[in-house]
Amino acid sequence: MSQQGYSRNATIAGWMVALLYVAHQQMTVFLARSDRFGSLREDYRGWHYLLGTLVLAAVVWRLLLWRREAAPAGTLPPALQHWGRWLALVAYLVLLVAPFLGVIYAWADDLKIHLGPTPALPSLMARDRDVWMFTGYFHSGLGFMLLVLNLAALITVGWGLLRHGKGLLAVLPPGYGFQIFAGVSSTVYAFSTFRSPEPGPRALAIFWSGCALVWLVAWLIHRKRAAASHGTLGATARFAAPAVAITLLGVGAYGPHALFKVTPWPMGEKVAGPEGVTSHLTVADHPAARIAPAPPSAFENKVRDETYKWCRFCHTVEKNGVHLVGPNLYHIFGQRAGQVPNFTYSTAMADAGRKGLVWTDERIAWFIADPQKHLPGTSMIVSSGPIPDPAVQKAVVNLLRRDTMADVAPAAAR
Ligand code: HEC
Repeated sequence: MSQQGYSRNATIAGWMVALLYVAHQQMTVFLARSDRFGSLREDYRGWHYLLGTLVLAAVVWRLLLWRREAAPAGTLPPALQHWGRWLALVAYLVLLVAPFLGVIYAWADDLKIHLGPTPALPSLMARDRDVWMFTGYFHSGLGFMLLVLNLAALITVGWGLLRHGKGLLAVLPPGYGFQIFAGVSSTVYAFSTFRSPEPGPRALAIFWSGCALVWLVAWLIHRKRAAASHGTLGATARFAAPAVAITLLGVGAYGPHALFKVTPWPMGEKVAGPEGVTSHLTVADHPAARIAPAPPSAFENKVRDETYKWCRFCHTVEKNGVHLVGPNLYHIFGQRAGQVPNFTYSTAMADAGRKGLVWTDERIAWFIADPQKHLPGTSMIVSSGPIPDPAVQKAVVNLLRRDTMADVAPAAAR
């Protein structure tokens, strides 16, 4: 089973990293979609940590072998194989760092680490919002780096196929070809199913058909050609490969900001407030604070599962709940925008508040319809996408009201 030029151990270690990585990535997709307050979340977290630890062990083994390995003597141009090896090496280094950032991220959030079903490990640090933001940004940034590396590797493989008739298994080191193919497949599935699972299989079918098409074209081009011989690795290729691979990491590091507008540290204007206070201190003196919520409905339950749950990933709703990526929203109705104590808002949001924006049902609906368009410069993005449907907006507003204003008597009942 060993690939040309690679030792048997390198092949086994490479495939172990790949299989564990794919299992870990799948678990991460489940974890990211699981209800923040659901019973399954703790199980998913445990498996995420366990698989992450196993990936780490396999990567360490693979990297130890890497040091003693000569570049493979293959039927491909050495520059192409050199580049493939650098992509793999940089990906392995990312996998080496990720678990450590992940552990600090969890501890800074007061979460306990447990490997699968084993008891929790003692936390080595106190809750710390700044550390949580920083490690959270880069833990997710490393995921984006892998995504960018995976895409670069996939393009490389496409090139290898069309130009030289050699693909996934020959262009990249053992296991790594499978790792990036399964990795991109999993990403395609994840990105097409933010809201609901239906579009997933179709997106995968399109992606796989595209790959099969490239493979078929390459096969037609190369089926009668004899293998060419290739020269040696030039100095430019030798140094360009690591430089480009490391540049790709920079692109990946920008991912969490590009996609979710999060930042590694608080940026913007911090609202003054007594230490430790993270909620509005008084009920707003505005009619919007005193509206009775509509009774629960089946439609609302659907909206809770598909849309509202994303609000709760970034916002706590109970009195003095911690600020997450977004501010705590307790008693938000009727308040001026950008005023929750000890949260750092974008200048856009702080300005909107100064100019008189007040959170009524209509204004929240307007904001979540498309935060980036309606309030340019805001640091909020709805992870599942803008919410153009008025019926969904209304349901979200109603759910939010029930969660944040339960202890405020409606006007009619006074
Ligand atoms: C990815 C994280 C994220 C998600 C998801 C998210 N928010 Fe936000 N939200 C933020 C951030 C960050 C801010 C602060 C924005 C700023 O300063 O520009 C914010 C601000 C707000 C505000 C204004 C608070 C204030 O004090 O002025 C409201 C209201 C709000 N969000 C409601 C929602 C609702 C409803 C949803 C779900 C549809 C939601 N958010 C989803 C991150 C998020």
